[in-house]
Amino acid sequence: MENITRDPLDPFPWYNFMRKNMPVFYDEKNGIWHVFRYNDVKKVLSDYTSFSSSEGRVESSSNPIGSSIISTDPPRHTHLRSLVNKAFTPRRVQEMAPRIREIADELVDSMVRKGESNLVEDYSGPLPVIVIAELLGIPPEDRKKFKKWSDELVSGTSEGMDETSTEYFDPQAAMAEYFRKIIEVKRKSPGNDLISSLLEAELDGEKLSEFDLLGFCVLLLVAGNETTTNLITNAVLTLSKNQEKYERILKDHSLIPAMVEEVLRYRSPVQSMFRTCIKDTDLGGKTIHTGEPVLAWIGSANHDDMEFKDSGEFNIDRTPNRHIAFGEGVHFCLGAPLARLEAKIALETLMEKAGKVTVKKDAELEPLGGVIVYGVKHLPVSLGNQKS
Ligand code: HEM
Repeated sequence: MENITRDPLDPFPWYNFMRKNMPVFYDEKNGIWHVFRYNDVKKVLSDYTSFSSSEGRVESSSNPIGSSIISTDPPRHTHLRSLVNKAFTPRRVQEMAPRIREIADELVDSMVRKGESNLVEDYSGPLPVIVIAELLGIPPEDRKKFKKWSDELVSGTSEGMDETSTEYFDPQAAMAEYFRKIIEVKRKSPGNDLISSLLEAELDGEKLSEFDLLGFCVLLLVAGNETTTNLITNAVLTLSKNQEKYERILKDHSLIPAMVEEVLRYRSPVQSMFRTCIKDTDLGGKTIHTGEPVLAWIGSANHDDMEFKDSGEFNIDRTPNRHIAFGEGVHFCLGAPLARLEAKIALETLMEKAGKVTVKKDAELEPLGGVIVYGVKHLPVSLGNQKS
């Protein structure tokens, strides 16, 4: 049987091959199961009685993410999620809309003044960081520090760093220390921000511990920034390659939300998620044993023809579009409404103010490292009617 490997810029031929030939596959060398089909990926992500998010994680004060909500299972997860839901409400997200628009306006204006841009550095990178920093109530003068830590954290993980290396721990420790101070300030004088609401949130007479609050703040940066950045970048890249659809959207901005959903499916910013098997389970004719790690390929599930007709086609009219780019089950992305809102406003603002933004013809696309976050490091673009 012909064998192909995963190209980090275009992993889709590999997924297609694996879904067809080895839908549940044990990688002997690394001791990991890989799961590729839509229904199987959904099962791995959602069945926490067989596939745990907490097993094998390092829980310690120097590793707040490893101890945060994303690394827990019910019933602890249920408790934490109910608490954070009280603060991270749809209303709070919706209230951010005018401010997101202002931030987008400023960033696009400065790109237009320059006449060209590297979209990641000038726009899709800074936008989510500024938004989450403001949502949390971080003073503007600390934003640069913030962005640096969040980049370091993500590059640490995406280079496949194991969780015991210093590169993984240091930015987390620095951030945790920083948040500890901010939390003290907010405890004394609460504001109209997420950290203040999280400090107030209470369930059955219990509040979030400082440890849980720290883990949650650091997780928001890591889970929310790079992912949203790549949703915006992947949208511009995909539109550039689909000119007819691009023209339609430029004429009718009401198509933007449907386009964002299709980008989430077609070029999912999160391509995979890990679990650990905690109960021998049959999947796709194989038996996954207790203790074995499992990688659920969201990027492949979202290209499964059993669920998506002509899955290789970027189709902004796709209905229904039951992609699982935000996961499935109890861990379904808490930030999905915020990510959708940011992407919609970012792309609307870009099209309104910069016209048709297209990738430069000579642009060399360099993929991000790692298997989780999917996108490119830089995206040189021309704005409006300029020729590249
Ligand atoms: C396009 C952008 C985004 C994508 C593709 C994405 C994707 C995901 C996925 C796949 C999960 C499930 C993880 C699992 O099952 O283990 C998840 C969980 C999570 N996401 Fe997002 N995310 C995005 C943006 C955001 C934003 C903006 C925030 C917050 C500001 C956020 C916060 C979270 C949190 C807190 C969780 C954990 C929820 C839980 O464990 O209950 N995400 N995200």
